[in-house]
Amino acid sequence: MEVKIALLGCGTVGTQVARLIDEQAEDLTARAGATLKIIGIAVRDVAAPRDPSIDRSLLTDDAEAIIAQADIVIELIGGIEPARTYILSAFAHGVSVVTGNKALLAAHGPELYDAAAGADVDLYYEAAVAGAVPVVYGLRESLAGDRITAVLGIVNGTTNYILDEMTTKGLEFEDVLAEAQRLGYAEADPTADVNGHDAAAKCAILASLAFHSRVSAEDVHVHGIRDVTADDIAAATRSGYVVKLIATARRRPQGIEVHVGPTLVPLSHPLASVHGPFNAVVIEAESADRLMFYGRGAGGAPTASAVLSDVVAAASHIVGGGHAPRELIYADLPVLSPSQAISRFQVEVEVDDQVGVLTKVTGVFARHDVSISSVFQDTGHTHSADRPVCRLTVTTHAASQEDLEATIEELNDSTFVAGVNHVIRVEES
Ligand code: HSE
Repeated sequence: MEVKIALLGCGTVGTQVARLIDEQAEDLTARAGATLKIIGIAVRDVAAPRDPSIDRSLLTDDAEAIIAQADIVIELIGGIEPARTYILSAFAHGVSVVTGNKALLAAHGPELYDAAAGADVDLYYEAAVAGAVPVVYGLRESLAGDRITAVLGIVNGTTNYILDEMTTKGLEFEDVLAEAQRLGYAEADPTADVNGHDAAAKCAILASLAFHSRVSAEDVHVHGIRDVTADDIAAATRSGYVVKLIATARRRPQGIEVHVGPTLVPLSHPLASVHGPFNAVVIEAESADRLMFYGRGAGGAPTASAVLSDVVAAASHIVGGGHAPRELIYADLPVLSPSQAISRFQVEVEVDDQVGVLTKVTGVFARHDVSISSVFQDTGHTHSADRPVCRLTVTTHAASQEDLEATIEELNDSTFVAGVNHVIRVEES
């Protein structure tokens, strides 16, 4: 038996998918129970230069024509349109879809899941979150018998690479970004990565799977890494932390908390040892306890590995029956507003170096019900020429973001405060 594949997109990942389907034909046939045959590769520009491994006779600019003849569509175009239209067209033709499109799933997931279920075909998307790391499978299937309480991830390789270089080399953000672009590690337009939106889309997908509820990218409170300085990182290092861009999804009694932002991770936490462009996702589950999935989150061959695992699964359903797990949203938990999020925080505040000021500062935290875990005082700074100040680094116990924001507001309004320099979440070990 032959399973006909339409490949949409022939960039870094698409090229590797085509190469591996060819090179591993025998193994893939044995695993899928059918020969996987690429019937066409839809691209915008058929005449553009391609990797020599690509059979140019397969190239076409007519995606709809190959979708209509396929058994499985692999969508690797990315972005919302035309990817969304092509995927819906595949479902309308009764064709299963494998995609790596996190932005589309995070924005239009429900429409796509409903269309796949309505057509009784598969929608697979392992490659959409953390590349080669099998975390979608892990949540959807391996942990289907457990109750997940939290998912914490480093799910963007570009930002992890930048923060890691800043940490190990003491460099500023802009310098590392420029070098990463020169070396081709960061995209020419790195906005979605550095602003945290790529991680937010992945966070929404992970939260939906973990908590059986619909979470969209818009629900995720996002803060990127642009304003993280070499000084912030040096201070974190001195106090036994490393700064990471962490995507967090937690089940709270009132609903789901989801956010992405720079976070102080204790060196004893497993995510602290994730270096360079690697991704890792820590899952906390009631019975399994803590698990960590680690690996390459981007790149042609690693992402193609995830795509092909989905293709084998979809093909085996075509051959032997059955279908991919459907969207499970029975829990229907509400997504909490950002102000309801609970976390430990670290606040750096510049205050007048005068008698009684420390008591006044701690009083502000106490008035807003924010409990202090530690205070570090660094004297001898100046806020302006005629204003000597000391810097207080206040680390809190778990507090709601709402209470923390009220604390910051009162600090900013206080005459003894010269400024609040930064506020950052702190992860537990
Ligand atoms: N640009 C992403 C990253 C990979 O840097 O991890 C694709 O989501």
